[in-house]
Amino acid sequence: MTNERKIIDQIDEQMAQLFRQRMAAAEKIALYKKECGLPVEDLAREKEMIERRCGQFEDERLRARYADFLKGVISISKDYQSEIICGAKTPCHNIIIQRGSLSQAGTLLGICGSKVMIVTDSGVPAQYAATVAESLKGRATEVHIHTFEQGESSKNIDTYKGVLEALVEGGFTRGDSVVAVGGGVVGDLAGFAAATYMRGLRFYNVPTTLLSQLDSSIGGKTAIDFCGVKNIVGAFHMPCKVLIDSETLRTLPQRQLNSGLAEAIKMAATSDAGLFSIIENSTDLMADIDEIIRRSLIVKQAVVKADPREKGLRRVLNFGHTVGHAIEAAAGGEYLHGEAVAMGMLYFAEGDARSRILKVLQKYNLPTSHSILAETLRALIAHDKKASGDVITVVKVSEIGSYIFEKVNIQDLAI
Ligand SMILES: NC(=O)c1ccc[n+]([C@@H]2O[C@H](COP(=O)([O-])OP(=O)(O)OC[C@H]3O[C@@H](n4cnc5c(N)ncnc54)[C@H](O)[C@@H]3O)[C@@H](O)[C@H]2O)c1
Repeated sequence: MTNERKIIDQIDEQMAQLFRQRMAAAEKIALYKKECGLPVEDLAREKEMIERRCGQFEDERLRARYADFLKGVISISKDYQSEIICGAKTPCHNIIIQRGSLSQAGTLLGICGSKVMIVTDSGVPAQYAATVAESLKGRATEVHIHTFEQGESSKNIDTYKGVLEALVEGGFTRGDSVVAVGGGVVGDLAGFAAATYMRGLRFYNVPTTLLSQLDSSIGGKTAIDFCGVKNIVGAFHMPCKVLIDSETLRTLPQRQLNSGLAEAIKMAATSDAGLFSIIENSTDLMADIDEIIRRSLIVKQAVVKADPREKGLRRVLNFGHTVGHAIEAAAGGEYLHGEAVAMGMLYFAEGDARSRILKVLQKYNLPTSHSILAETLRALIAHDKKASGDVITVVKVSEIGSYIFEKVNIQDLAI
């Protein structure tokens, strides 16, 4: 045994050296790709390489495990290359943030040789889905566009059924893909259809609202509303790729833009003081928007990675949401989601952090007060799916960039 342990120790030492060499080579390739404007990913080469390498193994049990090992190494290598190409830190290699990239969606998403169902809604300018469809010419075997009525009220079982019917009628099978082009409603609904049709199709997301670009498009949560309860039926289904083109925000109504920004303020307040300063000091939001999206996604990605199935830490993303959801529900459509979250944050921020949050919300015309009775909000919070008994866990911020979890009795909530 001692001898085998020594052998493993030596091999681990050699592997560490090989890893260093491999990453040094990957770095050089990344610099070359950056210079030539080439994408990080080359799926055809990866597939060929994995097949070739695994072919060296006669033992099937080892072959499958070596394939997993190689995929892990490739994924780490791609993240590393993305970091080099995109500068500083980047959320993840499968999230592309690039202005004006919509027309190259086909290449950047890396879709090849499958049927594609583009799902969008009637409020998203039709040219966005058409541009993505055009970019898929010569890559996808067939491209279909399915459009449903815009709005949260469409995130229901009938619209979901409509997408499934379109997939059946189009003869979609397991190897085919779904691409969402739109805001969080489209992403959640198309993602859920992709997660469940034939037990899962490949899913790609091209978010076009600020909220979906900096929040809902990553993390793999897909859902529809049912029996009057938001997001009650859903699945975790990670997108293969997310393509963010902030140029699409130019057609988004200002109110929607500000509402999406509330989620960035949330992320910044709990986890990134530098991002908070950028939002606080910005004099031209569209000039800073890619950086705001990038840093928000880094915060979200880190949380999702640490807690993919929302078992604990991911609750930090609920800062402002406990009361925010209740305000949204009680106001019956008067407030957009981000507007309700904006007001919700103020209940759980203290001292200087609260003053700064209040100021930044005012700067972006986000509401900071409402006239809903505390009793109404308490009753709604008690019904919230996250409440277990009378006690709920809330996220509190007393210093920008950090947070604590606190268990409170709903009746004791200072609202
Ligand atoms: N999955 C998650 O992790 C997650 C996280 C947060 C929110 N969500 C969900 O996201 C949804 C809200 O998303 P949303 O705020 O993006 O709303 P939305 O999808 O309803 O979009 C808002 C409106 O903007 C329109 N629109 C979209 N892109 C546009 C563009 N570029 N130009 C002009 N109009 C455009 C839409 O048609 C819609 O009318 C909710 O259902 C919420 O539950 C999901």
